[in-house]
Amino acid sequence: MKPVKIRGPLRRVKGEIRTPSDKSISHRSLILGSIAEGVTRVRNILRSADTLATLEILRSIGTEIVEEDGEVIIKGRGYKFKEPSDVLNAKNSGTTARLMMGVLSTQPFFSVITGDESLRSRPMGRVVIPLREMGAEIMGRNLGENLPVAINGRRLRAISHTNRRSSAQVKSALLLAGLGAEGITEVFEPILSRDHTERMLRAFGGKVVVISEEEGHLIKVAGGQVLRGTEVICPADPSSSAFFAALAVLTDGELLLRDVLVNPTRDGFFRKLIDMGADVSYLDEREVAGEPIADVRIKGGKELNGIKVGGNEIPSMIDEIPILAVVMSLARGRSVVRGAKELRFKESDRIKAVCQHLRKMGANIEELDDGFVVEGVSSLKGTEISTGGDHRIAMAFTVAGLVAEGETIIDDPDCVSISYPGFYKDLFSLIENS
Ligand code: S3P
Repeated sequence: MKPVKIRGPLRRVKGEIRTPSDKSISHRSLILGSIAEGVTRVRNILRSADTLATLEILRSIGTEIVEEDGEVIIKGRGYKFKEPSDVLNAKNSGTTARLMMGVLSTQPFFSVITGDESLRSRPMGRVVIPLREMGAEIMGRNLGENLPVAINGRRLRAISHTNRRSSAQVKSALLLAGLGAEGITEVFEPILSRDHTERMLRAFGGKVVVISEEEGHLIKVAGGQVLRGTEVICPADPSSSAFFAALAVLTDGELLLRDVLVNPTRDGFFRKLIDMGADVSYLDEREVAGEPIADVRIKGGKELNGIKVGGNEIPSMIDEIPILAVVMSLARGRSVVRGAKELRFKESDRIKAVCQHLRKMGANIEELDDGFVVEGVSSLKGTEISTGGDHRIAMAFTVAGLVAEGETIIDDPDCVSISYPGFYKDLFSLIENS
């Protein structure tokens, strides 16, 4: 796709949209379906570059996965995979690399995982170190801090691990490894990270104990459990819906976002929009396949005020901070984001990218080591955006460009295929029909 040119400002959006399914849940449905015994059927799975990377890796280690009538059908292998004959490529996907490291560490064979340039620069020690402690033999670049890593898997032993960064990828890797370990694996989280692995393990008949106290959450899983294939229905991804929610609050009109996952470990962005003064409501709240879902209605045209977002709140909106920054830059007064240093280790350094691009668009933003301070302005101006191959930066600044004065050019729109291949098609048809 050629660079996308946008001419703002867009004044109004109206209509409804069901954004593609949740990326985290889609990855986990493929992985747990492969580990389980028997057949798993997944409805509404996200088909994007990241989830395809997981699917291909699972096939390379022997899982049969087919598509039938729009459903994905997985023939579970009862946690007995076969040695891959080549290097496994997680491409751009941190979730694929880290969760699969947990799985591969339990298997008595040799495997190597690599990724694209961005993923090869991202930290892996956070998973490699505890997996080594469980007994896995893992070697890799920079002492195992970076991909590629080579794994000699084996029967592991349970450990107790404190997940200080509240990374769901770390927690999930260890819980998956724990299923194949001797004893009870424990992960302690001061702030609960997205809990889809725990919820889905239960849906597959697994036993996971979660003890929540003031100091944090202790998650326990016993090794040797047998999971049973089941049916998974994937809801819409709140991280993708967020771009449309932002467009609605920054313009006039009304938008209905259908089937959105509103799990409290994921819906921080919507709650922050409400704190800023936006009119956001959850309609028809329901539970589907163990996850809370709602239709999210957003009425635009409300005045937005600056807010503070801090440590405890970050994990529930970690992937939405770039688009939250765009909203903040147009709110009245000062907004502050702190305790978000993890953003520097995502598909790109998102603190740096957000500050650079917003400043170029005329926002008043100051970069901090672990976040930023932004003084709202009354309008942004269009500019050229270099996405750095980061899908969420591309989508956040497409929205910024739409509400800005003048022309914005997104240099590499194709990178949206990581999480939302049809983003531009959905966006332009929504605008056309508004
Ligand atoms: C994810 C966890 C988060 C998130 C990522 C998906 C997951 O990363 O940013 O997009 O599916 O577990 P961390 O676990 O590194 O916080």
